Amino acid sequence: MNLQFTDEQQMMRKMVQDFAEKEVAPAVARMEAEDRFPIELVRRMGELGLMGIPIPEEYGGAEMDYTSYIIAIHEISKVSATLGVILSVHTSVGTNPILYFGTEEQKKKYIPKLASGEYLGAFALTEPSAGSDAGSLKTRAQKQGDSYILNGSKVFITNGGEADTFIVFARTDRDEKNGKGVSAFILERNTPGFSIGKPEKKMGLHGSSTVSLNFDQCEVPASQMLGNEGEGFKIALSNLNIGRIGIAAQSLGIAEAAFEHAAAYAKEREQFGKPIAKLQGISFKLADMATAVEASKLLVYQAAAMQGNQEKCGKQASIAKLFASKTAVNTAIEAVQVHGGYGYTEDYAVERFFRDAKVCEIYEGTSEIQRIVISNHVLND
Ligand code: CAA
Repeated sequence: MNLQFTDEQQMMRKMVQDFAEKEVAPAVARMEAEDRFPIELVRRMGELGLMGIPIPEEYGGAEMDYTSYIIAIHEISKVSATLGVILSVHTSVGTNPILYFGTEEQKKKYIPKLASGEYLGAFALTEPSAGSDAGSLKTRAQKQGDSYILNGSKVFITNGGEADTFIVFARTDRDEKNGKGVSAFILERNTPGFSIGKPEKKMGLHGSSTVSLNFDQCEVPASQMLGNEGEGFKIALSNLNIGRIGIAAQSLGIAEAAFEHAAAYAKEREQFGKPIAKLQGISFKLADMATAVEASKLLVYQAAAMQGNQEKCGKQASIAKLFASKTAVNTAIEAVQVHGGYGYTEDYAVERFFRDAKVCEIYEGTSEIQRIVISNHVLND
């Protein structure tokens, strides 16, 4: 595999690094303190063409390759994992399902608005009693004339408080208990009977919106169904495959940032008459961190390249997410350790990396689910 970035990919990297450094970094402290959704930065990502990187020009996107999209998540997440997940969820699971499974009419109606950033996308699969076992979801969609009536609820919906469109999964066949009876719908925010719950107070990713959703006799025109009746679970899982590469890239960004902060601090901080980087207890930590970050980078960009070449990459996406998210957690823990007492205060970014990293092992499929997916591939492919 050639890991040299093309000129176009290098340009994307440089543009995103500039944006992250000049516009995102100054906003991080406020995002942390106020836990407020960074709407201005999201609008700005739209202006820069970042909200539709891999979307065809025909639908208003930048039509760049998948690796460029992953570069953007990686670089943004080095500065703000919050903005990284907003971008990843919006594109991978908020927009792509319409691109891959929508009718021409649905694509024309929604994708240009999503790709330009005028609309923000969200993905509503998880329910209070259906997390890892997503196929057991209970939200019902009952056919009534030319509409479906939705009743039920969703939890932990990223971008949910701000999103304009939601890809909602609901059971259209009461008799099928697993994923088979599930269908997907494109739901607009202002649909009667649809309401958004209060934001979760999270350990990390301050500023990102995580809410519950409620459907109470919520009437959705049948024309809003995505794909065919009963195809919803396939739509959910196949887009999650792709989404997991985005979360792996977010994890990589956090891990790399944590490593860089730890290395810089270790060179500066003196104890026992020399920089602590000269102490083997610290330099070996840095060596282990660098090794894991480098390995994550290879896995993330391998999965991205495969997705870009339209190769089957479910196994590689799960491997990248499993490894990069563990690396983000471990690297952030070690970065705090290298900083000693200072690392446990809000004055140093490593404290934020530590809190932001953990969810990467949980959302878009826990690490345990990634192991199920990987072992299924290993044993059955
Ligand atoms: N692509 C397409 N189809 C797929 C697929 C894939 N990757 N994986 C499975 N399928 C199909 C199967 O072929 C099967 O179809 P048939 O019945 O026709 O053969 C069907 O889907 C059901 O597959 P399984 O029997 O494997 O399903 P399962 O119920 O045993 O569950 C699972 C599989 C891997 C555990 C799955 O439920 C899963 O991934 N769970 C985790 C859910 C998850 O990731 N949630 C994240 C929520 S979104 C989020 O987090 C966004 C955010 O906020 C950041």
